[in-house]
Amino acid sequence: MNINQINSHESNALLSNEKAIFAGHELGKVLGTGSYSFVREAVHIASNQSRAIKFAKAKAQADSGCAQTGCFLSRPLTQMTGSYGEVSLSSREFLAKQYERFMGIACDGWLKIHEMIDAEGQTAAVMNLSTGRPLRQFIQEGKTDLDPVKKAVSALASLEKTSSSIKHGDIKPENILVEANQCFLIDPGYSGQLICEHNQELSVCMTTPDYYPFLDQNDQSALGLILFEVITGRNPTAFSPAQTGTEPTLKISTALRQTIETQRLGNNYFPARLYSLPAYLDYFRDKLPENLASISLKCLGIKITDQKELECCEQFAGAVELERALSRF
Ligand SMILES: Nc1ncnc2c1ncn2[C@@H]1O[C@H](COP(=O)(O)OP(=O)(O)OP(=O)(O)O)[C@@H](O)[C@H]1O
Ligand SMILES: [Mg+2]
Repeated sequence: MNINQINSHESNALLSNEKAIFAGHELGKVLGTGSYSFVREAVHIASNQSRAIKFAKAKAQADSGCAQTGCFLSRPLTQMTGSYGEVSLSSREFLAKQYERFMGIACDGWLKIHEMIDAEGQTAAVMNLSTGRPLRQFIQEGKTDLDPVKKAVSALASLEKTSSSIKHGDIKPENILVEANQCFLIDPGYSGQLICEHNQELSVCMTTPDYYPFLDQNDQSALGLILFEVITGRNPTAFSPAQTGTEPTLKISTALRQTIETQRLGNNYFPARLYSLPAYLDYFRDKLPENLASISLKCLGIKITDQKELECCEQFAGAVELERALSRF
């Protein structure tokens, strides 16, 4: 079958393991499928090199939903007066804008994008293939080894060295592929204008609020939350003290609320998710060494004072400094 000849009625065939030729590539098995796209293994026929190709889902495919049980999905959010709302977007435009910033980037920890294809009713990104497994699988298996987190920090450090202004914007365990000697950060977020429903152009932040609770592109905060999660098995922004019967430490909780409301974030909706952080710290105190807890809090721009209160502090200057702090563990 030649995918270039597929019409929209047949586009579901692309989302299968059936062998096919697409733009000079032989397609292999489906590696993953999300809300807006799916990824297939491929071989670049001319060079015989392995690739992964990410295709934007057609609307019909996107509407059919996907099974991502246990995963934190990226969501397109737009700011409205005083709050945030979820929007529908064009998966093709999103894919193109998502990878545009990364064209020409070649460094450790990043899978090179070879080309963007926008033809014959398909938008696709052709990239290097990784043999790694998502960090999410390690967490689900109960592995609390810090090594993959350190490798993810090193991956961000090399991205920062390549371009000081580039942000990934959607680092989470699903988007970190762990290989024996390195990690790759895949599937970046997007912050900017996108055509949304009713053909309206909106300012959208395409990210995962459980890892970017401030809805910014602050990759260091996400790594701080991942560090917590790998050690304790739980993401603190998704942790509800009510579920476990643990009472929050009121003093710290009040301080955190003030910190969030007055000093750093103003009247933002999402930081409410972080109100459970102090309870979380208490609950997992025996599992989470204090110095590691303080490293992950510093990633969020928060520190614990001698009086056991929380206050704002500077984050690490960059991923290189965070890498250095983690090298002691
Ligand atoms: N370059 C690659 N090499 C190997 N596997 C990959 C590669 N890119 C993606 N994958 C696999 O496909 C899965 C989905 O890819 P990706 O994270 O890019 O999209 P997604 O999260 O499903 O997309 P979206 O949520 O935007 O629709 C990954 O978890 C990974 O297992
Ligand atoms: Mg992903």
